Amino acid sequence: MATLQLFLLVEALAAAAAAAVVGQSAGDSLAANGAIAGNQMLISEGGVFQLGFFNSSGSGNGYLGIRYCKPVDPSVVWVANRNKSLNLSTATLNLTADGTLSLFDNGIIIWSTGTSSAINPVLQLLDSGNLVLTAGKPNGASLWQSFDHPCDTLLPGMKLGVDYSTNISRQLVSWKSPTDPSPGDYFFKMETRGVPEISMRRSSSEKIYRTGPWTNQGFSGNPKMEDSEIANKLNFSFVSNQDGVCYTTEYKKKSLLTRAVMNASGRFERWNWDGGSWSNFWHVPEDDCDEYARCGSNRICTKEYYSYSCSCIKGFEDQGSLGCERTKPLSCSSDRFLKVQSIKLPDTENATAHSTKTTLAACEDWCSKNCSCLAYAMAGLSGCVTWSGDSVDLRSFTSGGDDLYVRLAASEFGSSRSNERELAIGLPLLLGFLLLCCLGLLLLWWRKRGKKQGILATDLESSVKETGLLLDLPKVMDKDERFGQSNSSACESLQQLSKTDFDASEQHWSSIMINSENANLHNERAASVNISGALSSFDLSTIKAATNDFSADNKLGEGGFGAVYKGQLQDGQRIAVKKLSRHSSQGPDEFKNELTLIANLQHRNLVRLLGSCIEGDERLLVLECMENRSLDAFIYDKTKSVLLNWQKRLDIIVGIARGLLYLHQDSNLRIIHRDLKPSNILLDKDMNPKISDFGIARIFESEVHENATTRPIGTLGYMAPEYLTSGIFSFKSDVFSFGVLVLEILSGKRNRVFNQADICLNLLGHAYKLWKEGRSLEILDDALDCSYPATEILRCIRMGLLCVQEHSEDRPTMAEVVMMLASEDQQLTPLKQPTITLASSEGDLSSKEISVTIAGR
Ligand SMILES: *[C@@H]1O[C@H](CO)[C@@H](O)[C@H](O)[C@H]1NC(C)=O
Ligand SMILES: *[C@@H]1O[C@H](CO)[C@@H](O)[C@H](O)[C@H]1NC(C)=O
Ligand SMILES: *[C@@H]1O[C@H](CO)[C@@H](O)[C@H](O)[C@H]1NC(C)=O
Ligand SMILES: *[C@@H]1O[C@H](CO)[C@@H](O)[C@H](O)[C@H]1NC(C)=O
Ligand SMILES: *[C@@H]1O[C@H](CO)[C@@H](O)[C@H](O)[C@H]1NC(C)=O
Ligand SMILES: *[C@@H]1O[C@H](CO)[C@@H](O)[C@H](O)[C@H]1NC(C)=O
Ligand SMILES: *[C@@H]1O[C@H](CO)[C@@H](O)[C@H](O)[C@H]1NC(C)=O
Ligand SMILES: *[C@@H]1O[C@H](CO)[C@@H](O)[C@H](O)[C@H]1NC(C)=O
Ligand SMILES: *[C@@H]1O[C@H](CO)[C@@H](O)[C@H](O)[C@H]1NC(C)=O
Repeated sequence: MATLQLFLLVEALAAAAAAAVVGQSAGDSLAANGAIAGNQMLISEGGVFQLGFFNSSGSGNGYLGIRYCKPVDPSVVWVANRNKSLNLSTATLNLTADGTLSLFDNGIIIWSTGTSSAINPVLQLLDSGNLVLTAGKPNGASLWQSFDHPCDTLLPGMKLGVDYSTNISRQLVSWKSPTDPSPGDYFFKMETRGVPEISMRRSSSEKIYRTGPWTNQGFSGNPKMEDSEIANKLNFSFVSNQDGVCYTTEYKKKSLLTRAVMNASGRFERWNWDGGSWSNFWHVPEDDCDEYARCGSNRICTKEYYSYSCSCIKGFEDQGSLGCERTKPLSCSSDRFLKVQSIKLPDTENATAHSTKTTLAACEDWCSKNCSCLAYAMAGLSGCVTWSGDSVDLRSFTSGGDDLYVRLAASEFGSSRSNERELAIGLPLLLGFLLLCCLGLLLLWWRKRGKKQGILATDLESSVKETGLLLDLPKVMDKDERFGQSNSSACESLQQLSKTDFDASEQHWSSIMINSENANLHNERAASVNISGALSSFDLSTIKAATNDFSADNKLGEGGFGAVYKGQLQDGQRIAVKKLSRHSSQGPDEFKNELTLIANLQHRNLVRLLGSCIEGDERLLVLECMENRSLDAFIYDKTKSVLLNWQKRLDIIVGIARGLLYLHQDSNLRIIHRDLKPSNILLDKDMNPKISDFGIARIFESEVHENATTRPIGTLGYMAPEYLTSGIFSFKSDVFSFGVLVLEILSGKRNRVFNQADICLNLLGHAYKLWKEGRSLEILDDALDCSYPATEILRCIRMGLLCVQEHSEDRPTMAEVVMMLASEDQQLTPLKQPTITLASSEGDLSSKEISVTIAGR
């Protein structure tokens, strides 16, 4: 059976091949006075290529060109008369006795190789696709070859570049359109100014892409060239010397057919024949960051999932459309070099190659001695390359790429002496910190024993305090603040250190010890001190001083559980203070225990609790400060929402989902948030979302049970229907709030105040309606540009709608949500109509108002 199928397949292929080569073959060569007309053709010896007239438009007009005949594919790799088409029924290709090859249409010359005076010339089509004209066989001198006159396709053996003895540039010019071979808009050519590299230009002037200089095995801008299986089959090479500069590919093994095309829509693409069809192996420009100078000068472009971001090189600051400029002036003699890793080297148009300097050290030596040398890099056979201007068209790669060394003022690095000083401060702090850990454990053990033996814990604490003093802990730590203080000051000095962590080779110790991840680890370790029973408590006077006595200027906002103020402690640490509005039934000790439990919840998507303050009736929480405030300030604001592109929004949704999953499942407390809404999602300086106010519901309701019936705490618009109507809450009510949040993030509109003139629906109803009508994308925020991937967004909208299903059992768990966000194809659970809570015109309802409205029922 299989054999029969194979046989049929071979038959079909053979028939197709026969169809493709219809016409009379004159073999692979044409002798003097020979001619080709109509459907006559030359076929290369191995049957790979054919030369003949082809019908481009089906109108009877066409071109003389070279095409593949095996594989069966009409791809034209070369065209003789690309400027002017000819009448296929009257055209002839004639080779004269003196070796001039000309194309005639009705006797009029359309194209020619130019005159020559050879004897017994021969025209031959080779299996490489090269059409060669030689002065008599064998070993006649070459008169002309098609490889010297590329069109839009680069075949193995062809050279792209410039020959300095003639100054002829062999370049690719795209077709005008996929059916019109006349010269189009895109050029792929060798640039010889400065250090050679290849550029793609539109209309031969505007640069739209460049490959970057050749480094080792490939172009700096296309790391894919080097570490792919194709490198085993093809020899990519780049030659630059006094005779010229050129880029070529050659077969290592003839087991692959390959061609590279400058296509009509501005992509340089490489195609490989995989035995059954052509596959697009790579193309450039591939993403936003490939576009020439996308980020301007001295900025690095970084590809993100569906978009890109620009950031200044360290030591440079953003000057808007001007690019980035140096923050500190250079002083020449004392400057140092910052290593920028895994990037595409900047435009080499104005760069200089020092090919005799073949080591990094020699290169740095030269550059540091010449004050106008602003950057250097090692670039393969070009040796040391130096730049004396701005770095233009930089991008980063996740793997591969080259290293650039950028000149910066020495003060950007922090001198080595100050490093020692920081080490001198950091080390004792670290030791002190370890000691504190031990003390914490000791205290815990002591307390346990103390309770058994009926000793007052406070006595123990004071004795530990004395021990601490005996051990000469830094003086800044006083009384109860010692744990919190030591953590925060240690972290700050760590942060300062990481700022100086520029050059991995120079300051190796700092990069090993203190990169941001280690700092996080460190925070986690700091948290483990808290676990052992201590949560910093602050004096009311300290907090009052930090928040300017809770002044209106310091007020950040008002949440369901009270007002939030920003503040700064005396040591400079910035904090947020939450003043709880309602007093729980708990006494100070219970309250503190509860807080300690909550302080132990540590996750990158949860806001960290730093400490508390309980004095009299006052209950204050001290939280980490979040630079970008809360999500509601972004999504509902026309001017700020443009800052959230699709990728950012998706990252925020994923972050919230992970934080919530941790609260629901992965923490030891298993907490239901109960008041999830945009104002409770805070954003750090990198726009990472962190859930705040988690566990506060727990403080207010000391006895928390799943499915308990209590007074609803929450915010209208985000509350699940069963919670709103009968006060039943569960993990699934958080899932509901999460779903509302997702739809709000996507649409940029509030669920409550959503008002579509003709429909009396809220956001959820509107989203469902659009979904059913297949118009889901219409719900998207206008601020989103069109670069978003529709399938991904549809997946997200669907997930959001699934979360707001009327019945809690129809909603997914957070674990399922996280899985849906991670996987390409999700099981399609049927969607039902979500709850349509009537739109409320009452605006922001605090939990107090709600509990008053509903609790009495
Ligand atoms: C060109 O194509 C048209 C339409 O397909 C066909 O009628 C015509 O005979 C072709 N001419 C040649 C020379 O192949
Ligand atoms: C085609 O036309 C362009 C200008 O339109 C000219 O520069 C080029 O030399 C022509 N090519 C041939 C092969 O005649
Ligand atoms: C090609 O030439 C033939 C014979 O001269 C003529 O009949 C035909 O119309 C021409 N075709 C085109 C497209 O010019
Ligand atoms: C080209 O060759 C053809 C066929 O041999 C012949 O009829 C024609 O006259 C030649 N044309 C020229 C210009 O030599
Ligand atoms: C090629 O161009 C360079 C620079 O434009 C010039 O110096 C050189 O003389 C040219 N060579 C020829 C053979 O024209
Ligand atoms: C690759 O091509 C270059 C230039 O043609 C040549 O010098 C080199 O030896 C070739 N390498 C291999 C492995 O074929
Ligand atoms: C050019 O190449 C790109 C990428 O391979 C492809 O998406 C596009 O359709 C091509 N355009 C043309 C006109 O062939
Ligand atoms: C190279 O120098 C020229 C002349 O100063 C300038 O116009 C051009 O922008 C520079 N190119 C780059 C990539 O910096
Ligand atoms: C320093 O570099 C600039 C730019 O590369 C170059 O023009 C100049 O000749 C160099 N000076 C010395 C002394 O090498």
